Amino acid sequence: STTRVYNFTIRSTNVRRLCNSKSLVAVNGRYPGPVIFANQGDRLLINVTNNGPYNITMHWHGIRQLFSCWADGPAYVTQCPIQPGGSYLYNYTIVRQSGTLFYHAHETWLRATVHGAMVVFPTSGEPYPFVFPKEEHIIILGEWWNANVEDVETQALLTGGGPALSDAYTINGLPGPLYNCSANDVYKLRVQPNKVYLLRIINAALNIELFFSVANHNITVVETDGDYTKPYSTTSIMITPGQTTNVLLTTDQPVGRYYMGASPYMSAMNVPFRMTPTLAILEYAGSNASSTPVMPNFPQSNDTAFVTTFSTSLRSLANAQHPEPVPQTITSNFFLTVGLGAKPCDANFGCQGPNGSKFTASVSNISFVLPSVSVLQAYFFNISNVFSPDFPAQPLNVFDYTGNPPSNITPLRGTRAAVIPFNASVQMVLQDTSILGVENHPIHLHGFSFYIVGQGFGNFNNSAAAAFNLVDPPRRNTVAVPVGGWAAIRFWADNPGVWYMHCHLEIHTSWGLATTFIVQNGPGNQTLPPPPPDLPQC
Ligand code: C2O
Repeated sequence: STTRVYNFTIRSTNVRRLCNSKSLVAVNGRYPGPVIFANQGDRLLINVTNNGPYNITMHWHGIRQLFSCWADGPAYVTQCPIQPGGSYLYNYTIVRQSGTLFYHAHETWLRATVHGAMVVFPTSGEPYPFVFPKEEHIIILGEWWNANVEDVETQALLTGGGPALSDAYTINGLPGPLYNCSANDVYKLRVQPNKVYLLRIINAALNIELFFSVANHNITVVETDGDYTKPYSTTSIMITPGQTTNVLLTTDQPVGRYYMGASPYMSAMNVPFRMTPTLAILEYAGSNASSTPVMPNFPQSNDTAFVTTFSTSLRSLANAQHPEPVPQTITSNFFLTVGLGAKPCDANFGCQGPNGSKFTASVSNISFVLPSVSVLQAYFFNISNVFSPDFPAQPLNVFDYTGNPPSNITPLRGTRAAVIPFNASVQMVLQDTSILGVENHPIHLHGFSFYIVGQGFGNFNNSAAAAFNLVDPPRRNTVAVPVGGWAAIRFWADNPGVWYMHCHLEIHTSWGLATTFIVQNGPGNQTLPPPPPDLPQC
């Protein structure tokens, strides 16, 4: 292992898409940002200098940050933002994990344009559980707004309504040929026939879950969120914001040109979304460069049956080289509801949410409010009145979560944390609610990879635990909680610090679909060290 130094300068740069030029915030002027390459065990020193116009932080999504919570990055959770002109050295070691992850800004909606891939190779000499292809490529899925994305968020929060839809979905920053004025902004992957390629697919979009398909080719999933899976061959994958998926692609079709791309999965009824897929070209050597590529068959945008089959087919390796320490008995048990709601609007601004109200969202009916100093600093230095350590293990109101909504749909507001003892074996059942429509929520937990031991539709019932997969459940950092259903996750609380959990649909986080967990220090040196001296102050 070695130490790798990266210098990230955050600054505005002009980018033109869809015949529209705009100034956007990006890492080193690049959209998407540069790739971070590392090996398992490496120390990363990433010096982030903010020369842009907004406060910013950076998050290394899926990096477990063992004993390095100060480098995790969510604004007002583990640090105060880096103000314009400021800088912060993110200093951490990649412990016992490898695979495809990504980094992104973690302050307001800046991650729309401030993001990039992280590729962590296994320790040298450690074999892959599949024949590792000679060529690998990164596929970052994203969303493009012609408007300033910060303004889109501000507008949504002021008016109380849903946010303006993005103007395009993108692959490696390019919308592809189906959008206006975009015929030449098409990512092209040139391949040789009869070879195997590794695609590292990342969903960095803000607000949309996506299917990814390649015309006429099956793809084989071998890794999700940086943990290996048993090979699973499929026509398409579903990937939520915050998820990463490695697939093998075998070029076993006739020499030619094929589109590959991403098309929306929208589980909610009556929620507007953009239908047009983003496409890239898979071009076989020897094909006619002017031929029209073959279109993929994407699943229908509401194909929850496909999504269920896909999610429940994934399995971790769970073999002698890759044992899976799935917690078999539970010492900290949480039942958490996730969902949208409404709140009264303030008269000065619009009321474009449901029935003249404003949209809001919550975990267990508590809508998360970002504090003015980070929860981690408040916890570490005993600063009072920043958060309360009383986030409930069970919802305060018990109701028929997926049935008729209760009459009062206004959640409480507050900054709370649930405290978990060191090395607890934790179970969290995440229950979608129908308070304001039902929707698949991609719930991301910082600081851990967890096992998805079960999922189902309707209200979770304890008897479902009998069918949990405690042998080879997939391990992920972002779970798609089924629309109108639930997912159960388990993990070991071996990482002291303050860890954010939130919906990775960014508008839901803006509305408060988030909470924090405090994992206490362990014995001996299994404690969170003090913050680095350059930790930004609020
Ligand atoms: Cu990918 Cu809290 O984020």
